[in-house]
Amino acid sequence: MAQILIVFGTTQGQTRKIAEVIAEEMRSMQHVVDFFESSLISPNINLEKYDAIVVGASVHAGGYQKSIKNWVKKNAFALRNKKAAFFSVCLGILENDEKVRSKERKYVQDFLLENNWKPQKTAMFAGALPYSKYNWLVKYWMKRISKKAGGDTDTSHDYEYTNWNEVGNFALEFSQLLINSTLLDHQSRVGEDHLLKT
Ligand SMILES: Cc1cc2nc3c(=O)[nH]c(=O)nc-3n(C[C@H](O)[C@H](O)[C@H](O)COP(=O)(O)O)c2cc1C
Repeated sequence: MAQILIVFGTTQGQTRKIAEVIAEEMRSMQHVVDFFESSLISPNINLEKYDAIVVGASVHAGGYQKSIKNWVKKNAFALRNKKAAFFSVCLGILENDEKVRSKERKYVQDFLLENNWKPQKTAMFAGALPYSKYNWLVKYWMKRISKKAGGDTDTSHDYEYTNWNEVGNFALEFSQLLINSTLLDHQSRVGEDHLLKT
């Protein structure tokens, strides 16, 4: 059983929904999970008590939310020294155009590189197109972008593209990684004790 912190940035709420599913999956595996939005998390949170940290953010106009960028930058040292995972939420990965998909991968790579952070696990999830949550200008632009990409353009509907099996597998695999590394740590401690006694 590990203590896990999930911190996420969101603008329209899909990344929160994904973070919630990850938290639920991990709780069902007996982990203790705390869960915060990056714009609301206390600056004095004690990261020492966590065995692992999961960070999530969504892409808006080619970048992540300012609050998550600041949080990761500020806590990069802790992130580098703990088991950690990062997931990125966007719509570009749904496109057939490989150029667009590779741009989305580059956002992830650049963000991790900027922070000199190599999480044990990363993932990209398709997000949502919630027209009802956009103001008229954003609705107009998102419809244009979606039309160009051959996507959904009926602005009287909201669309969700997240593959919840992929999200569940991400939580499961990261959980397994934590269990395996705890077992390895335990075995190497037992080995050291044995060597000391002989
Ligand atoms: C103004 C705006 C800009 C966006 N820019 C991008 C983008 O550059 N690349 C992309 O793949 N998706 C882009 N998206 C799609 C979002 O990443 C997607 O809707 C995601 O589900 C949003 O997550 P959130 O609800 O957690 O904010 C954009 C969405 C909006 C509303």
